[in-house]
Order: sequence, then C-alpha cells, then structure tokens
Amino acid sequence: MTTAIIGVGNLGSALARHLVHGGEDVMLAARDGAHAEALAHELGPLARSASVSQAIEESDTVVFAVWLGAARELLSVADNKDRLRGKVVVDPTNPIKLRDDGTLQRSLPEGQSSGSVVAGLLPPDTHYVKAFGSLGAQSLAASSNRSPRRAVLFYATDDTQAAASVERLISAAGFDAVRAGGLNDVARIEGPDGDLSQGGLNGALLDVDEARAAVAAAPVA
Ligand SMILES: NC(=O)c1ccc[n+]([C@@H]2O[C@H](COP(=O)([O-])OP(=O)(O)OC[C@H]3O[C@@H](n4cnc5c(N)ncnc54)[C@H](OP(=O)(O)O)[C@@H]3O)[C@@H](O)[C@H]2O)c1
Repeated sequence: MTTAIIGVGNLGSALARHLVHGGEDVMLAARDGAHAEALAHELGPLARSASVSQAIEESDTVVFAVWLGAARELLSVADNKDRLRGKVVVDPTNPIKLRDDGTLQRSLPEGQSSGSVVAGLLPPDTHYVKAFGSLGAQSLAASSNRSPRRAVLFYATDDTQAAASVERLISAAGFDAVRAGGLNDVARIEGPDGDLSQGGLNGALLDVDEARAAVAAAPVA
C-alpha cells in the first residue's frame, strides 16, 4: 500500500517521517518538487517524490497536507479529481489563517468545518476521512510511539474503508486511533478550537482511555 502525501511542510514532513519509520511506502509531492525530492532522499528507499498528479495516480491513499486554499485549488483540477476516484482521501486541514501579528484565527465562518469544504469537492466515489490534523505539527513530530502509553490521533469519517485505512496508518505512525464520529463531527477535531483538537484540549495529548471519554463527553457549546 502506498500513501501519497501532498505537501511536505510542517505537517506533511512529520507524517512522512513517522510512516516511513513504521514501514510504509510514501510518495511525496509539493508545489516545489525539490522540497519533496529532498525529503524523499532523506527518508530513503520507502519514500519517492513525484508530481501531484503522479503521486495521486500511484497511491492508494492521498493525504492533502496543504493549507485549505491550496487544497481547494488542487481539488479544482479535473485531472486530480479523476485520479482520486475510488481512493481514500485523508484531510488534515484546519480552518486557520495567521493574523499579521502571528496569532491564529479562523479562516471559515463559525460552524463551518474545513472538512465539509474538502469533502464537498471530492468525487462521490472517494473515501473521505478527517485525520492527522488534531495535533500541532510539533506535537505530532515529537509524540510517535509515546511511552508508556501511545498518544491518540482522532479521526472522523462516515466511510468504513476510509476508517480501516486511516486506523492502519495512524498505528503505523506510532499512535492509537480513536474515531471521534462521522462527517458531521469533523469540527470537533479541527483547530483552532474543536473540543477534541489539541488547542481545544489546552495542549493535552490523550491516551486511548482519556480520548474515548472525551469523545463521549458532549462538546462545550
Ligand atoms: N502546522 C501545524 O501545526 C498543523 C497542525 C494541524 C493541521 N495542520 C494543517 O496542515 C496543513 C499544512 O500545514 P503546514 O503547517 O504543514 O503548512 P506548510 O508548512 O506551509 O506546508 C505546506 C506544504 O504545502 C505545499 N503546497 C502548497 N501549495 C501546493 C500545491 N499547489 N501543490 C502541492 N503542494 C503544495 C507546500 O509546498 P512547498 O514545500 O513547495 O512550498 C508545502 O510543502 C494545513 O491545512 C494546516 O491547517 C497544520
């Protein structure tokens, strides 16, 4: 199984490192192909670099580790959409932008999730799952195979194939997977303030028991 990671910045590079460490094949793509190539070279034989369209074509699962605006652009290209048909699409995007002073603010109106935007742009026969965006990239990078108990990565989907694929990838990346709900629940795991996002949890990383209890608790209105 091959996972395409589109975007090799803070989030995509951390994810690529963990997946390769867990024995997964990855295909890396970026706006500047040299960035993907440099990371693939660093990560060794399980990692290859490619154009966006080639990475999508040659993978089973595609992670859009890009900002929401770039995801919208990439998903407006008919060729990319065609190549995504039948594949699992993993969406770690958050509805966040930077203010001029460097602090974070929502980039979408209250109540609108980034997941609803991305899922709405996909062909109907793709398998959508929200995952890998609930922790800050530094925490993601630093928390793989945490001891004595693994940290949790939440995911949300209505799709059983996507759930199975992402659970396998979360485990390969060195985390425990906990389902936060379906497409209607994706905002719970999106930053900056979803109640199950790291921001909403005041920076905490949860173990599997804590995570299941947090999912069961009603989100604070
Ligand atoms: N950073 C975090 O702590 C964090 C945490 C949770 C979720 N997220 C989400 O993860 C996503 C990525 O965040 P980030 O911090 O990793 O961003 P980043 O460091 O700015 O990296 C963005 C990556 O996207 C690539 N890219 C941009 N436009 C592209 C295009 N048209 N085609 C292909 N690749 C393109 C860039 O390519 P180049 O390398 O060539 O510039 C870069 O590799 C965002 O949606 C964010 O909300 C981030």
